[in-house]
Amino acid sequence: KKKIAMMTSGGDAQGMNGVIRACVRTAIHMGCDAFCVYEGYEGLVQGGDLIRKMEWHDVRGWLSEGGTLIGTARCMAFYERAGRLQAAKNMILHGIDALIICGGDGSLTGADKFRAEWPSLLEELVSTKQFTREQIEPHKHLNIVGLVGSIDNDLSGTDATIGCYSALTRICEMVDYIEATASSHSRAFVIEVMGRHCGWLALMAGVATGADFIFIPEKPREDNWREEMCGIVQKHRTLGKRKTIVIVAEGAHDREGQKITPEMVRELLADKSGLAIDSRITTLGHVQRGGVAVAYDRMLATLQGVEAVKAVLEATPETETCFIAVTENKIVRKPLMKAVEDTKAVAAAIEAHDFDKAMSLRDAEFSD
Ligand code: F6P
Repeated sequence: KKKIAMMTSGGDAQGMNGVIRACVRTAIHMGCDAFCVYEGYEGLVQGGDLIRKMEWHDVRGWLSEGGTLIGTARCMAFYERAGRLQAAKNMILHGIDALIICGGDGSLTGADKFRAEWPSLLEELVSTKQFTREQIEPHKHLNIVGLVGSIDNDLSGTDATIGCYSALTRICEMVDYIEATASSHSRAFVIEVMGRHCGWLALMAGVATGADFIFIPEKPREDNWREEMCGIVQKHRTLGKRKTIVIVAEGAHDREGQKITPEMVRELLADKSGLAIDSRITTLGHVQRGGVAVAYDRMLATLQGVEAVKAVLEATPETETCFIAVTENKIVRKPLMKAVEDTKAVAAAIEAHDFDKAMSLRDAEFSD
């Protein structure tokens, strides 16, 4: 019987439990044994009770649970070869030779590295007499498939990461709440949203809530952004709007790379010699990663989980490591490392202040 392990890694995202539920049940349905690795790569390194065989009923009700019920961690030990060697040993001890990982680009890059290193890890386990050559023979190939779980929607090659629509929904709900009190007091609210280096959450939240102004990393405002923002807010106020909402992505900066902070924006809106609007800051923080997955993320988690099990069973030593994407509403397999490289290219362009390139790379992602 083929033994497939699955785990969640990196920052949690709504929908991760749906992924595990779908993978466990599909694996069992296809005649395999399903294992969950608890606490991300930490569980793989430590082994023992952190690698558990799962049954069909173990994941009952998981679609409507938030966070990740099998835990996640940012594991330093896995960055070292010694940690990966220990992980390989634990996998062999459990008879596991296929791994499905749900996480962000960092976690998926780690997985690809592990797969590339697998033959040399096995050699070391034999040369250090931890296993005989006969014992490792059935485990010669490690198949790995990635699923992108992240609220940031920051991976190239897929239209949506699992969790991003839940986080976006949470942001919109929070902005709706804030709007009520903003209107009552005729106030402005500067709202900081997550997304790391990616502006997707801020951009989409701006569209979905009709915000007055937004700041995102990929397209910094022109140098006159202060006048531009105040002019727009003033215009909206003149039209009778009693509330002002400005959304700032946590990775926002100006054209010189200086961080645009919510406090800078608030001070500007409140400036007595200018708009003089009573202004407050709300940092939404981890509320965005909390709560249960919206229907779309449950659906994506389920469809992609099923596809991941199929992909891991069909993988051969010759196939490149793939991840499961959604492109124009279709669930597809794509080369993992190409997506990671494309994602890094956007980050590098932003870092080099080449914003036109960053934008054209992002545009290309969606026309792929
Ligand atoms: O990648 C998801 C994310 O929530 C980012 O949006 C944010 O920058 C980061 O993780 C926060 O990480 P932590 O949970 O470690 O504070």
